[in-house]
Amino acid sequence: MTVSIPHGGTLINLVDETITTQDITQEVALDLTSLSDLELIANGAYSPLTGFLGQTDYDHVVSNMRLADGTVWSLPITLPVSEKVASELTLNQLVKLNYDGITYGILSLKEIFTPDQTREAQSVYKTSDIAHPGVKRLYERGNTYLAGDVTLIRKPKKLQFSSYYLAPSETRQLFKEKNWKTVVGFQTRNPVHRAHEYIQKSALEIVDGLFLNPLVGETKADDIPADVRMKSYHVLLDHYYPKERVSLAVFPAAMRYAGPREAIFHALVRKNFGCTHFIVGRDHAGVGDYYGTYEAQDIFKQFTEEELGITPLFFEHSFYCNKCENMASTKTCPHGKDDRVILSGTKVRELLRNGDTPPPEFSRPEVVKVLIEGMNVNV
Ligand code: ADX
Repeated sequence: MTVSIPHGGTLINLVDETITTQDITQEVALDLTSLSDLELIANGAYSPLTGFLGQTDYDHVVSNMRLADGTVWSLPITLPVSEKVASELTLNQLVKLNYDGITYGILSLKEIFTPDQTREAQSVYKTSDIAHPGVKRLYERGNTYLAGDVTLIRKPKKLQFSSYYLAPSETRQLFKEKNWKTVVGFQTRNPVHRAHEYIQKSALEIVDGLFLNPLVGETKADDIPADVRMKSYHVLLDHYYPKERVSLAVFPAAMRYAGPREAIFHALVRKNFGCTHFIVGRDHAGVGDYYGTYEAQDIFKQFTEEELGITPLFFEHSFYCNKCENMASTKTCPHGKDDRVILSGTKVRELLRNGDTPPPEFSRPEVVKVLIEGMNVNV
């Protein structure tokens, strides 16, 4: 791919900060996930979605990863509330969408439906085990879904790293100004380790720019907090990346840990941000042992590149090889298991928690320093 057309053809824009809400009597309280979904629908990151899914689209997405019109879409973006909250609402009327008592959006309420959440868990997460953090959240969030188009009337205030929140229209403009024809998107919920750096730089050898787009929405409690990660990205970029070939912006969505399905979702959203390519490494968006190492790559075979509109770049499990004295994968290194330093975010977190310093084969020393400092307060 060399041109990034928004998914569905048009970049959705449902932001209107001039709208007032004094005549709207109904309201629902959002959780942080719904607040971020509202913003990402409205700013076009979730194009072609214009609201929270109704039952027909929801059923199609859950059963075959497509909206009712056939457009590829892999995660059901829904607005869950309790039965009690839903029972007090009237259909075909506007609803204020509040967080912490402040109205951020308006929902044009078209449907209220009761989903089969066990089916949703099995199809989307491939398990109904509540030990899976995505499944746990699914069951916790409410068993009745509200659906309809939304408008964002107030942008959620960014308390941290506010200059790194860019809407898809802004990143598209940025890539244009940089004259990047091809841009590879990188999703992460971890500090960037040597394996990440290796696959990013391998990709950078063939495209014009890298869009480092760490997810900073809700993550599970033992993931490294976003503020510490942001510091780690800065030191890494300052020391090891060519400035003019990397853009850093945050992705405010919640992490679903849905593995393969989330990889498709992550790719489509990065396409909306203007990427032409997207990196999918080992166990993308996975958690525990719920998904196979390359399942998040294999799922891409179910779609044509034309219908996805973004080129996935697949990378084997990368490691540091003591014999090669370099990062490598089984595609590039002939040596055995004993020569390999296997890297993972989980492993680094474990080392840090035990008071051990991750070796330079794991993480750049500048990154380790930031993580250790952050650990005192956060990890
Ligand atoms: S996540 O959002 O996909 O869970 P994570 O930070 O774990 O974030 O990984 C970011 C990206 O790097 C994913 O595409 C993942 O598959 C890839 N990745 C992580 N570690 C490795 C590794 N050792 N080798 C190859 N790819 C990796």
